Amino acid sequence: MPQSRSGPAMVPRLLHCVTLCLLGAGPLGATVTQNPRYQVTRIGKPVYLSCSQDMNHDTMYWYQQRLSQAPKLLFYYYDQDFNNETDTSDNFQPSRPNTSFCSLGIRSPGVRDSAVYLCASSRDTELERYHPS
Ligand SMILES: *[C@@H]1O[C@H](CO)[C@@H](O)[C@H](O)[C@H]1NC(C)=O
Ligand SMILES: *[C@@H]1O[C@H](CO)[C@@H](O)[C@H](O)[C@H]1NC(C)=O
Repeated sequence: MPQSRSGPAMVPRLLHCVTLCLLGAGPLGATVTQNPRYQVTRIGKPVYLSCSQDMNHDTMYWYQQRLSQAPKLLFYYYDQDFNNETDTSDNFQPSRPNTSFCSLGIRSPGVRDSAVYLCASSRDTELERYHPS
C-alpha cells in the first residue's frame, strides 16, 4: 500500500475504535449480553452501549479496559441506586431503566475512550462476574 504517498488526508485519523466484548454464558448457564459487540466510531460522535441480563441480578457494573491494562470499574447500580467512581469521566452517561438492563452512553468519545467496555452483574450476596473468554 503506498502509504507514504497517500498523505495525511487519506489517513482515517479521526477514526478510532470503541471495542466491546460480547460476554457469553456464565457458570450457571445464565447470560449477560452486550450490544453492539464491536463499534468503531468517530471522535466526538456519541456512542450508546447496552447490556442486559436475565438472572434478575440487582447489581450491574460497567468496567473499562484499556489496551494492556486491567479492567477498571467505572460505576455500578445496586437496584436503582447509582454508584460512581470518583475519577470516572463525566463524558459517560449511564442509565438503568429496569432490573435486567443498563446502558452506557459516551457523549463525546475521544481517543482516551478507546477501550473494551465490560458489563457484569451480580446478586448482592453472591458475586458472579462475567469475563470475556
Ligand atoms: C462521576 O463522578 C465524576 C467525578 O466526581 C463526575 O465528574 C462524573 O460526572 C460522575 N458521573 C456520573 C455519571 O455521575
Ligand atoms: C428494560 O429497558 C430496556 C431499555 O429501555 C427495554 O428495551 C427492555 O424491554 C426493558 N425490559 C423490561 C423487562 O422492562
